[in-house]
Amino acid sequence: MLASPVFDFSKSRVVVIGASRGGIGASIARSFADSGADVMITGVEAAPAPEDSDRFAYQQLDVTDNTAVEAFAASFPTLDVLVNCAAITQRGAEMEPDFFETVLDINLTGSFRTARAFHPGLSAANGTLINVASMYAFFGSPRNPAYGASKAGVAQLTKSLAIAWAPDGIRVNAIAPGFIVTEQSARARSDPAFVAGIEARTPLGRWGNPDDIAGAALFLASDAARFITGTCLPVDGGYSVV
Ligand SMILES: NC(=O)c1ccc[n+]([C@@H]2O[C@H](COP(=O)([O-])OP(=O)(O)OC[C@H]3O[C@@H](n4cnc5c(N)ncnc54)[C@H](O)[C@@H]3O)[C@@H](O)[C@H]2O)c1
Repeated sequence: MLASPVFDFSKSRVVVIGASRGGIGASIARSFADSGADVMITGVEAAPAPEDSDRFAYQQLDVTDNTAVEAFAASFPTLDVLVNCAAITQRGAEMEPDFFETVLDINLTGSFRTARAFHPGLSAANGTLINVASMYAFFGSPRNPAYGASKAGVAQLTKSLAIAWAPDGIRVNAIAPGFIVTEQSARARSDPAFVAGIEARTPLGRWGNPDDIAGAALFLASDAARFITGTCLPVDGGYSVV
């Protein structure tokens, strides 16, 4: 979470999809809660990370299940902020077409499913949608082709929904995190050469942690960002400018 609350979300309802594993989604959820928001989190697991189990209302939700996504969203007649964090990747397994399709279904179509299902609630609140992309929206990844394609798709989807939903008063943006220490990156981080390569290329000289991302989410959801829509904001320690 942020060192001290900067924004006031005390009148806001926030849903963070994919916040069950103590990673980026969980950090974003905690930061909104620390800024006064009423926050609900979801994940594909039966329960959230132990440190969050008392803190947040939790919904087990598979973003590939359209019926379940629509039923969940229907319980929010108004919603101020939707954050789409659900995603998977598996280094080395993504050249296999069935798994490629699975990654796209969760990361890209899943983000669209939740966005579409929450559109009425976001529209009723003049709310905002924040998607989570990746450096691999911009760069190729020989071992994660499905993940990269899905995240490039998320960045593009963000632009299209920003245009489509502007008349409804909904702003749509994305964050592209750099390389962040979470469960999702654990496998990649078991390769010392990969870890060192990221550190060497990142001007700020380190991997990020989930709390490094949360501030951008608060900013993009806040009135300070009221004229920002359709953007994909890198939060990467400078990785993408080298
Ligand atoms: N860790 C990184 O270095 C990094 C870098 C760039 C972008 N990201 C992105 O940030 C977001 C959060 O990643 P993280 O590192 O915190 O990962 P994480 O593994 O901690 O969290 C992933 C979340 O996705 C959920 N999920 C997975 N499959 C799902 C499904 N079928 N239906 C619903 N939810 C499902 C999980 O339950 C979990 O809550 C992801 O979109 C990820 O791609 C991560």
